[in-house]
Amino acid sequence: MKYKSHRIAMNFFTFAVLLFLVQVLVGLIAAGQFIKPDFFIISFNIIRTLHINALVVWLLCGLMGATYYVVVEETEGELWNLPLAHFQFWATAIATILVVIGYIVMGLNPQANKWVFGTLILNEGRTYIEAPRWADCLIALSAILFLFNNVMTIIKSKKITGIQGTLIGGMVFLTLMYLPGMVYIKSMVKDQFWWWWVVHLWVEGAWEVIAGALLAFMLLKVTNAPRHVLERWMYIEVFLVLFTGILGIGHHYYWIGTPPYWLWIGAIFSSLEPVPLLVMVWDAFRTTRENRIINNRIGLFLSVAHAIFNFVGAGLWGVIHTLPQVNKWTHGTQITNAHGHLAFYGAYVLLIVAIIYIAVPNIKGLKDFNTDRAYKAFWWMTVSMILMVLTLTGAGMVQVYMERLMGVDYVVVKEHYNYWFWVFRAFFGVGFLIGVGLLVLDYFTMGNLPVRKGASNIRTTASA
Ligand code: HEM
Ligand code: HEM
Ligand SMILES: [Fe+2]
Repeated sequence: MKYKSHRIAMNFFTFAVLLFLVQVLVGLIAAGQFIKPDFFIISFNIIRTLHINALVVWLLCGLMGATYYVVVEETEGELWNLPLAHFQFWATAIATILVVIGYIVMGLNPQANKWVFGTLILNEGRTYIEAPRWADCLIALSAILFLFNNVMTIIKSKKITGIQGTLIGGMVFLTLMYLPGMVYIKSMVKDQFWWWWVVHLWVEGAWEVIAGALLAFMLLKVTNAPRHVLERWMYIEVFLVLFTGILGIGHHYYWIGTPPYWLWIGAIFSSLEPVPLLVMVWDAFRTTRENRIINNRIGLFLSVAHAIFNFVGAGLWGVIHTLPQVNKWTHGTQITNAHGHLAFYGAYVLLIVAIIYIAVPNIKGLKDFNTDRAYKAFWWMTVSMILMVLTLTGAGMVQVYMERLMGVDYVVVKEHYNYWFWVFRAFFGVGFLIGVGLLVLDYFTMGNLPVRKGASNIRTTASA
């Protein structure tokens, strides 16, 4: 290990991949409950909360690990305060585990979620950010310590690069956007209005800025492309993400009681949101084409895959239902669910997996390593996810038609007309779990398998 600070990045990555496994296991239980609602001791609402909260937390941990790694690499020195970073990691991990235990307790006994000092003690009950107030405070504190440590590291080193500046900027934006989720307002309209600031301005604002910075960093590391070219495109991408994504929030304000001008704003700006994502795909391909000396092929492969599926999942599967004329039929159906899965997978799951395969070999000092299992994990996950999303899209089309056009009751559609879609979803879910299992196994054993002859992960000739 070149820097002691790399240990922090590793800790976050380890916690992230383990939580990913938990998230997917719980997702399978949720899928089972669509087929047989009472098959598990904890009911669907809590299982769903666990599934998506685990997702958000492990992705955040992955982003924190990535940031610590990038800052150490870019400043070429140790973190400003290593014990503080260790403390921040353990505080985050312990708070997460406590919140999860709280959800489980509530799942077993719903009455346990009591009001204390005007807040609910186990579960606040707003999708994605259900964590109770005390946990919100711990999360905010953790984020502040994290930002402070990284900023001090950069200041101390006096090496501020465009990549790490953008990355930290995205992280500050991310932290600020957590705050609107910490107030609840009696008016449902106002409450939803602010809730979307967290959810939308995270995934389509702050996190995409971070993705842009990490994409530039990863391409820089694996291809040795010129930094100034990568950074120039990164600025263009980040500008376009913010230009389209901030007002793109209007696509959530169509039907919640906000003024009608949001129909126009949402339609116009959110329709443009795929543009920066397409620029990222082009950027990844251009860099690969122009720089033929690749020192980590799996890292490059995953970076390009991330760019492509970010565009497909967020951009394409998002834009199909983003106009109010379409969204008035598809709002809150399985179409939304299909998009939610592919967008999170392409934009952020693959992003974290890519950075892991770039950072960890370097941290472990592996020059070349066997990547067979990494590719297998990727293909199991990706093919299963595509099939699952096509299934959900099919379920959504049936749902929209039967429920919204024919007026058939919601539960009848879900129980009867959508039944086989749920069976297939669970089936593909098992495929996805196999992929995650392989990924976790490979994470812990990376570099242990011998490199097969002729299967080098490094390509140093310009001819291939
Ligand atoms: C990486 C980026 C993205 C992620 C992770 C993501 C994820 C999600 C998720 C999870 C939801 C469901 C929220 C809920 O109601 O609980 C959602 C809703 C939505 N997303 Fe995205 N999304 C992304 C980007 C986009 C983009 C670029 C567009 C449009 C071009 C888009 C369009 C929509 C729309 C219109 C809805 C509302 C669906 C409805 O009315 O039910 N998303 N997104
Ligand atoms: C074995 C694989 C998985 C299975 C079986 C599964 C199953 C489910 C189920 C049953 C729901 C509840 C849907 C509803 O309320 O209608 C759900 C929601 C969700 N899952 Fe998964 N999931 C899996 C993997 C994943 C992965 C890998 C991600 C992230 C990339 C993810 C992200 C989400 C999101 C964002 C939601 C909320 C969607 C929404 O409200 O529209 N899931 N999942
Ligand atoms: Fe959105």
